[in-house]
Amino acid sequence: MGSQKKIVCIGAGYVGGPTMAVIAYKNPTSVVTVVDINQERIDAWNSDTLPVYEPGLDDIIKKVRGKNLFFSTDVDKAIEENDIIFIAVNTPTKDYGVGKNMAADLQHWEAIARQIRNVAKSDKIIVEKSTLPVKTAETMEIILNTGSDVNFEVTSNPEFLAEGTAIRDLIEPDRVLIGSRETDSGQKARNELIEIYSAWVPKEKIITTNTFSSELSKLVSNAFLAQRVSSINAISAICEVTGADVQEVSQAVGADSRIGSKFLNASVGFGGSCFRKDLLNLVYICHMHHLHEAATYFENIINMNHYQMQRFVDNVIRSMFNTVAGRKICMFGCAFKANTDDVRDSPAIPIAQTLIAEKARLVISDPKAMDNMNEVLGKPQNVSFIDDPYEAAKDSHAILIITEWPEFSSLDYQKLFDVMVKPAYLFDGRNMINRKACYEIGFNVNSIGKEALIH
Ligand code: NAD
Ligand code: UDX
Repeated sequence: MGSQKKIVCIGAGYVGGPTMAVIAYKNPTSVVTVVDINQERIDAWNSDTLPVYEPGLDDIIKKVRGKNLFFSTDVDKAIEENDIIFIAVNTPTKDYGVGKNMAADLQHWEAIARQIRNVAKSDKIIVEKSTLPVKTAETMEIILNTGSDVNFEVTSNPEFLAEGTAIRDLIEPDRVLIGSRETDSGQKARNELIEIYSAWVPKEKIITTNTFSSELSKLVSNAFLAQRVSSINAISAICEVTGADVQEVSQAVGADSRIGSKFLNASVGFGGSCFRKDLLNLVYICHMHHLHEAATYFENIINMNHYQMQRFVDNVIRSMFNTVAGRKICMFGCAFKANTDDVRDSPAIPIAQTLIAEKARLVISDPKAMDNMNEVLGKPQNVSFIDDPYEAAKDSHAILIITEWPEFSSLDYQKLFDVMVKPAYLFDGRNMINRKACYEIGFNVNSIGKEALIH
């Protein structure tokens, strides 16, 4: 007989939905409710068309929804009825006031803290699932414990899933991190969380720390991952002018077991809702503590990423005789990575915006993310979205590979070449095509971190 816990998660987004689905699936005797203020999102979670695309998510939802996993907009009721409250609301970069464009915007977080304090009538374990500035737990405790007789134990349990592989990451995590206080009630709360995760995660993968180490570790993990991508992207610029090949360099460097081979793929730049936001969050924390050199170090990871995106699109324009006005350009992919419909902070956005400003006619083809991209770009008239890549490439002057969807490497490039305007250009922002074969077909090929192959 498993444990019978009453769990709620506030925030039914990319993290809240999949995470709670897996917790419910692995803890069949517990009851899990996911709540959100967004009625449309909750309706979608209760329908056959889920609000986020994640491989494997549909199957798990079908197994647990209506049994021990429920989606609702009644946040007050859920706070009142449950003992363990995960909070997975969005914590974007602030776009106003003090810390604008750098600090984390904690307005949703603060609102939730007050709502919990006002509604809760029994003791609660509060679990920080969102990514937060270090020491947020302390602020949370102050808000919760002011004017309430209820005992709130605030813990940190950051989420490390990556989009596109969320279900696999949740089912087989590298680690689960739980931060808590060393008091009796802190330890009790920690044990409750360990019990939930022990249903499927081996004990040695459950790391326990103090609350602030846990909060900070999440920011640091994303900073380290982003730093690797920016480092290899900086190297890609050197490769392009020296005759070195970034994939060969990456293989040679990554073979060193101290360095490792993951996250060394040069690209158009990193995107997604986390890397830039969490780096900026870290930069802001450094400045707040007068650690300006450390701030500059982390800030340069973001600067390098901007440079890479700009370098890519500048190269497109320069290679095509410095003018793309009126010319049709086809973008393969707009999701920030493969296997997701998410375009938040996708490199496709600034690249598309630059080309639109240059008066190019854009056609975008992506297996999942076209609706979101259209929304983000503001539905511009000179951008069209076409499912079929061959149809999308018709009469275009160039193909730009932006997202590493595996299907883009197995397309028939001869067939694509045949329907394009000549000279036909191929800009591979993900190093996923057979560039020599494409050059032989007739394309002018530009690949990230490699010498251009031009006829
Ligand atoms: P999201 O925007 O997809 O979802 C957040 C949800 O919270 C939204 O549906 C929103 O309506 C809801 N919400 C906001 N305020 C609310 C309130 N007062 N009451 C109820 N619901 C409210 O965000 P996400 O991508 O799921 O990210 C959530 C957190 O997890 C962020 O802190 C993020 O940094 C972190 N995180 C994200 C990922 C990822 O891959 N997306 C991975 C790890 C950690
Ligand atoms: C990231 C972290 O990996 C995850 O642990 C955290 O919980 C949330 O943030 P996510 O942003 O979903 O996950 O995707 P990730 O796989 O990290 O990729 C981020 C970006 O970096 C993507 O745009 C991806 O295409 C790019 N990337 C990744 C590269 O350009 N090269 C690489 O070698 C790896």
